[in-house]
Amino acid sequence: MAESSSDLRRRRWWRSTTTRVLAGVATLAATATVLVTAPGADAAASTLGAAAAQSGRYFGTAIAAGRLSNSAYTTIAAREFNMVTPENEMKPDATEPNQNQFNFSAGDQVYNWAISHGSRVRGHTLAWHGQQPGWMQSMGGSALRSAMINHIQKVMAHYQGKLAYWDVVNEAYNEDGSRRQSNLQGTGNDWIEVAFRTARAADPSTKLCYNDYNIDNWNYAKTQGVYRMVQDFKSRGVPIDCVGLQAHFTGGSSVPSSLQTTISSFAALGVDVALTEVDVTNANTSQYSALTQACMNVARCVGITVWGVRDSDSWRSSESPLLFDGNGNKKAAYNSVLNALNAAGPGPTTTPTTPTTPTTTPTDTTTPTTTPTTPGGGSCTATLSAGQSWGDRYNLNVSVSGSSSWTVTMNVPSPERISTTWNINATWPSSQVLIATPNGSGNNWGVTIMTNGNWTWPSVSCSAS
Ligand code: G3I
Repeated sequence: MAESSSDLRRRRWWRSTTTRVLAGVATLAATATVLVTAPGADAAASTLGAAAAQSGRYFGTAIAAGRLSNSAYTTIAAREFNMVTPENEMKPDATEPNQNQFNFSAGDQVYNWAISHGSRVRGHTLAWHGQQPGWMQSMGGSALRSAMINHIQKVMAHYQGKLAYWDVVNEAYNEDGSRRQSNLQGTGNDWIEVAFRTARAADPSTKLCYNDYNIDNWNYAKTQGVYRMVQDFKSRGVPIDCVGLQAHFTGGSSVPSSLQTTISSFAALGVDVALTEVDVTNANTSQYSALTQACMNVARCVGITVWGVRDSDSWRSSESPLLFDGNGNKKAAYNSVLNALNAAGPGPTTTPTTPTTPTTTPTDTTTPTTTPTTPGGGSCTATLSAGQSWGDRYNLNVSVSGSSSWTVTMNVPSPERISTTWNINATWPSSQVLIATPNGSGNNWGVTIMTNGNWTWPSVSCSAS
């Protein structure tokens, strides 16, 4: 059978990636067998999640705990999506209804459903002017600053090591590009960076995102305001890993022609970009196709999440903005999205994570069995040390000495897979090979490795430039 043009593009990309890696990496023997297995060189996928995974991306949905008893809803959600955002269940009013009294029951319900159905989870959201519990709404000044920090620490501790992304701060900007007035803003202009620094310390294994609406149009003041904040954070080493464009194209707004420019401009700052809450008035097919294509055209656009499963599940159901109608039938827009996902070229710098077994408390009982480490070539050395571990994965801390300009190559023995990294710029020739360079966070960084039953530490090599 003739190869489709998308198959050919993927093959070409893998061939060129393989060539680059084989030329540049010292540990050829270990990587070569992995690299010849090119994902995505097979037939078109038939679900949104599988189609997105071919290029290393995800396709997600918002899930409401209250709908998990509806089998029509869960059947579609389990089949089509591989990223889940709790629609309301991890927001401050849900997780801390009384000050310093936390309630994770609804959040855990969504989390456990997601991972037991092969999906990762995006946490939403920690610091926001909206959906604050009553006690927080009436608070200000240093008391609120402390309460915000405590909230981030406690909620992230509960989900430590479990979430792929966290929306640390949500909707902090006005339409004119200035900061939104809120009780949080009233605690001082540095509240956003304090939130991000607190979040990094609370859980270094998850990616920390800023999330907002109406930041899709590159020529819009609000987009520029958020862009300048991310640029400033990156230049000063404030930990931020990702930007979420909510992409609500309902209520009179539509997909701007500059969307791809916006995505690629944020990505060029060194952050992952995602479309996080997509809906489109009447599910306009060409708009859904355009927004999907804009993401697929940017390597670091890591995934797309639609804000609900069926039209009847949408916060804007009167606009019928989703990919499934109220009876669970696929709409025309579904096919346009699926086709764009299947035709996608090179993927992002992240790989899909193997879902974990549902748990509520990580256990720390298993110790990796070997202890290799790693002098490297050149004039730098990468040293591994054990971080936290759970039943299915472990963290490794990596410390680089000898140079501040280094490239570390890590080879993880199959069937282990690298799941997450922090404090580095990472490229991924495969899910067993990581190439790490400094991202301005210093020489100490780390990885989370899914064991898939094998607890052998990876080998690493370091070269200085
Ligand atoms: O659960 C209560 C129910 O017990 C009560 O009877 C009912 C009466 O109003 O309210 C129910 O809570 C509602 C909740 O959704 C669950 O359905 C709230 O009133 C309602 O305000 C809340 O709306 C949510 C909205 O955020 C609040 O800001 C939407 O579901 C949710 O989709 C929406 O999501 C936001 C993102 O978090 C951020 N970006 C914008 C997006 C759309 O507004």
